[in-house]
Amino acid sequence: MKIFAVNGSPRHGGNTNDMLTEVLAACADAGCETELYQAGKRVVRGCMHCNGCAGRNKCVIDDWVNEVYEKMTAADAIILGSPTYFFDVTPEIKAIIDRCGFVSRRNNFMFSRKVGAAVSAVRRAGGIPALDTMQRFFLISDMIVPGSRYLNMSLSSDPGDFSKDKEGIKTMRRLGENIVWLLNQRNS
Ligand SMILES: Cc1cc2nc3c(=O)[nH]c(=O)nc-3n(C[C@H](O)[C@H](O)[C@H](O)COP(=O)(O)O)c2cc1C
Repeated sequence: MKIFAVNGSPRHGGNTNDMLTEVLAACADAGCETELYQAGKRVVRGCMHCNGCAGRNKCVIDDWVNEVYEKMTAADAIILGSPTYFFDVTPEIKAIIDRCGFVSRRNNFMFSRKVGAAVSAVRRAGGIPALDTMQRFFLISDMIVPGSRYLNMSLSSDPGDFSKDKEGIKTMRRLGENIVWLLNQRNS
């Protein structure tokens, strides 16, 4: 089973990266193939609502978001990770949601019954709306969303802080285990 994760933080070695790495490690331990894609810091173009993706199964803007879309459609589970920026996700993650979400909808719901999970690193407040933004995308894309033993957040500020968040590490690990458990149920 393929698990594809996207880091929307411009800090490639930051907390979101480390959270996703922990989730993927649990998936890899259970025998899954994993990939972590660094989307943060890329030039962002938003959806133009041109409907040019209809029947074409890709965005007319020929950039990295199409590469992410291809990897998302090939995966069994998609994990989005974003640091909380002003109580929401980063522009890179919002571009993925809007453009990949729209391409999928215009091409018969390409993410149907894939598993979707979201994680967010947050210094102090706003992690819940950031998670909501990502999880709503999964929920209206006909996807299945697993939980963990707390919300998929870490109260972390500087790079390296996540490694001190014992509960956050356990939460990420359990999330990875639940992703694999859910995929096994789906496939049985
Ligand atoms: C532009 C910007 C906006 C931010 N907004 C918030 C916020 O609304 N709430 C908060 O608690 N932290 C906020 N932060 C702090 C980050 O969420 C926090 O440092 C996080 O650990 C960064 O994750 P990373 O290491 O993966 O980049 C913000 C940081 C930046 C650069």
